Amino acid sequence: MPALIIVGAQWGDEGKGKLVDYLTANADYVVRFQGGSNAGHTLVVDGKKTKLSLVPSGILRPQTTCIVAAGVVVDPQTLMDEIESLKKAGIKVSSDRLKIDERAELVLEYHRALDRAREQSRGEAKIGTTGRGIGPAYEDRAGRVGVRFGELRQLEILKTKIKSNIEVKNKMLANVYSSDEEVKFEDVWSMIEKTASNLLAYVDDTSLVVHEAAQKHKKIVFEGAQGTLLDTTFGTTPFVTSSSTIAGGVLTGCGIGAKDTGPVLGVAKAYATRVGAGPFPTELHDATGDKIREQGAEFGTVTGRPRRCGWFDAVAMKYAVRLSGIDSLAVTKLDVLAGLPEVKICYRYKLNGKEISNFPSLNADLEKVEPEYVTFEGWDNSILQAKKWYQLPTSARLFLDTLGEIIGCPISIASVGADRESTIFSSNAATIRSFAA
Ligand code: GDP
Ligand code: IMO
Ligand code: MG
Repeated sequence: MPALIIVGAQWGDEGKGKLVDYLTANADYVVRFQGGSNAGHTLVVDGKKTKLSLVPSGILRPQTTCIVAAGVVVDPQTLMDEIESLKKAGIKVSSDRLKIDERAELVLEYHRALDRAREQSRGEAKIGTTGRGIGPAYEDRAGRVGVRFGELRQLEILKTKIKSNIEVKNKMLANVYSSDEEVKFEDVWSMIEKTASNLLAYVDDTSLVVHEAAQKHKKIVFEGAQGTLLDTTFGTTPFVTSSSTIAGGVLTGCGIGAKDTGPVLGVAKAYATRVGAGPFPTELHDATGDKIREQGAEFGTVTGRPRRCGWFDAVAMKYAVRLSGIDSLAVTKLDVLAGLPEVKICYRYKLNGKEISNFPSLNADLEKVEPEYVTFEGWDNSILQAKKWYQLPTSARLFLDTLGEIIGCPISIASVGADRESTIFSSNAATIRSFAA
C-alpha cells in the first residue's frame, strides 16, 4: 500500500506531527496539503524536540522528500526561519529534500494586519485565530487576487499587483475596521525580493511530482494540519480555520486524483482539547480539566494559549470518521490521563430532551447539547512503560476497545508519550505497519 493520509480528527493538536514522523520511517514523500503557519507540530526524537509549522513532519527522516503542496498558504519569512533553524540543528534541507508548489499562496503582511484588525473588531465574538493571516490569505485565493510562489519569477509584473492589493487592503483596514495599521509597500516589497532570492530554488510543480511518485508506487504520506472540527465547511463555523482539513482536502490541495491516495489514519487524543473560541460539548470547567491541561502540557505550540480540555467526544468522532472515511484511529496522550480515578467517553448527546447521535450543524444546538457518558476506571503511570498492546493497563485497553466499538472504527495505534518510540501498534494496524521502521 503506497500512500497514507493522516488527518486530525478533533480540533487540532492531536499529535499529528508525532504520528507523521513515526510513520515516515520508510516514506519517500511527505506532503502537507493545507493550512499554513497556524499549525504547530512538535516532534520528539530521543528526547530532542523539533517544532514545525510549515515544513512537513517527515523532515527528520533523511530519505524523504518533503512537499508543501498548492493547498498550503505560506508565510515566506516563517518558512525561511524554519529552514534556517532546521539547518542549524544539523538537518539537511536542500531543494531535493524540500519542494514548495508554484501555486502555493503567499501570506503577506497585509493578511496578518487584516487578521488582527478583524479579530479586534469582533470584540467578544472573536474567533481566537492564531493571527497568522490564514483567513485573509485563503480569501485572496478565492477572490482571485492572491500571490502564488511561481509569480516570484516575474517580479516586475508582480510589483503592480502587490501595489494594487495593498491599496485595497489599506482601505479595508482604515474604512471597514477603523484600524490604525497601514501596510507599507516598501516593507512588503523588500520581503518579496528576499523571498524570491531565498526560496525560488525550492519551487516546483508538485502536483506533477506527487503524481509521478504515485505512478512509480513510491511511499507517500499526506500530512493534514488542524483538525476535522476546524474544517472550513464541516467544522463549527465561524470558529474554524479557512481550509479543508478533512481527507478530501488532499485531492484539491495537492492537485491529484483519488487513485493516487490511500487509506486514512485519523489522529485523536484520548480526551479533547480546543484552542480558540467555539462550541465544545464535553469541555470540563473543573479541577479535572485543569489537571488534564497541566499533565498534558496543553498550551498552544503557536500562540502559547492554554487549551480548553474535556472528555473524548465519540459523537464528534463518528462525524470525523464519516467525513474523512477514516480507516483507523491513532489515539494519543493516553499517558496524560494516568492517575485520574475515572475516565469518560461521551457516546451520545441529548438535545431538547431527545437523544441524538449525529453531530449538529448549528452552534446554537451544539451549545445546548447535554453529553451522556460511559465511565471507565482510570489507569496508572505503568502505561508509560508499555511497549506492546498487551502491556497497556487493562482499563486503558477496555477504554480503547469500547471507543473503537462506539465510533465503529478500529484503533490501530496507541501513543503513550511524546517521544517517537512511545508508540504501540494494535492487531488492527496491519495496513499501516509497513510505514513504520
Ligand atoms: P499536532 O498539531 O497535531 O502535530 O500536535 P501538537 O504538536 O501541536 O501537540 C501535541 C503535543 O503533544 C506535542 O507537544 C507532542 O509532543 C505531544 N504528544 C504527542 N503524542 C503524545 C503522547 O502520546 N503523550 C504525551 N504526553 N504527549 C504527546
Ligand atoms: P495544528 O496543525 C489547533 C484554530 C485557532 C482558531 C481557529 C482559526 O497544530 O493542529 P486560524 O489562525 O487558522 O484562522 O484560526 O483555528 N487553529 C488551530 N487549533 N491546532 C491548529 O493547528 C490550529 N490552527 C488553527 O486557534 O480557533
Ligand atoms: Mg499543533
